[in-house]
Amino acid sequence: MNVLGIETSCDETAVSVVGPEGVVSDIIHSQAIHNEYGRVVPELASRAHAERVVVAVRAALAEAGLERPDAVAATAGPGLVGAVLVGLSHGRALAAGWGVPFVAVNHLEAHLLAPLLDSPAPEYPFLSLVVSGGHTTLYLARAMGDYEVLAQTIDDAAGEAYDKVARMLGLGYPGGPAIDRLAAQGNPRAVAFPRPRVKELRASKRRGQLIQRSPLDMSFSGLKTAVRQHVARPDRARTEDVAASFQAALVDVLLSRIEKAVKKTGVSRVAIGGGVAANSELRSRLLALQGVTAHIPPRSRCTDNGAMIAHCGRLRLLAGQRDPLDVTARSGWIPGEP
Ligand code: KG4
Ligand code: ZN
Repeated sequence: MNVLGIETSCDETAVSVVGPEGVVSDIIHSQAIHNEYGRVVPELASRAHAERVVVAVRAALAEAGLERPDAVAATAGPGLVGAVLVGLSHGRALAAGWGVPFVAVNHLEAHLLAPLLDSPAPEYPFLSLVVSGGHTTLYLARAMGDYEVLAQTIDDAAGEAYDKVARMLGLGYPGGPAIDRLAAQGNPRAVAFPRPRVKELRASKRRGQLIQRSPLDMSFSGLKTAVRQHVARPDRARTEDVAASFQAALVDVLLSRIEKAVKKTGVSRVAIGGGVAANSELRSRLLALQGVTAHIPPRSRCTDNGAMIAHCGRLRLLAGQRDPLDVTARSGWIPGEP
């Protein structure tokens, strides 16, 4: 079964065909229009998706040598609802016109399962850290559709912290790749940025309310503030040293949660996905982690892509699942929930 997957939840218009042998075509258009704003502007994203999606679908089918796929999958959330709607509506219309099954895909589940596209694929159960611009969650994946949240950020997502710190350093959007490059030339020990500890997190308050958290939960807003305060100082470190020190702190937090989750669950297969999983330091330090089998997708399958949507949709279709053509876009959607 060849499945066409459409992704438009943020600032990539991405379309791909995945078949029994894996990825047969992979088209991706990253919207440059947001660079000057230092963030994704939702309205501009929706418009740019609307301009591109038809062309991207044609290109993906042509690259795959197909006139039509056997089924269509599209991201239905979570994401910017207006942006999601563009790809979702187009996907539903294509499925209706071609008379093929349609499946609505959860963007986070697609990131979570993207490592299964590689060989060797992780066997269930495995841990999967999804680190993107909007989410930072460590899952225990027991089977397709059966995911337990072991840890998550209580404030900013890791990618959001990268993007905001990049803005402070005048590096533009998206910030992750720029900081990644710059950090390679800096000293990660130049500035001692905070790595919030479990106890401090457990007592954290949100909107005045004390909240119960998992001891594995993470927080990145204090790190972001510490960078802001540091760069305002007259004796601030060089930009590359700030980038390297920020990155070291953030990756330390992610890796410490992975190590704790491995101990807690006894599961040593660890996958990563989402844009921040393209980060050089996270990738190399995860690979070097003792007692862990790391499953690290190629960078192009960590950042948003159509192949992960087609792949996730294909798995759901093979499991006999499909969705009605009036399925709607969702801004929030926990993976594994109907
Ligand atoms: O998964 P993704 O492409 O889109 C969302 O679903 O959010 O993730 C985008 C995020 C951005 O915050 C971007 O700065 C970050 O991933 N990112 C990186 C790297 N490449 C992208 N962060 C750190 N290092 C990178 N190399
Ligand atoms: Zn994503």
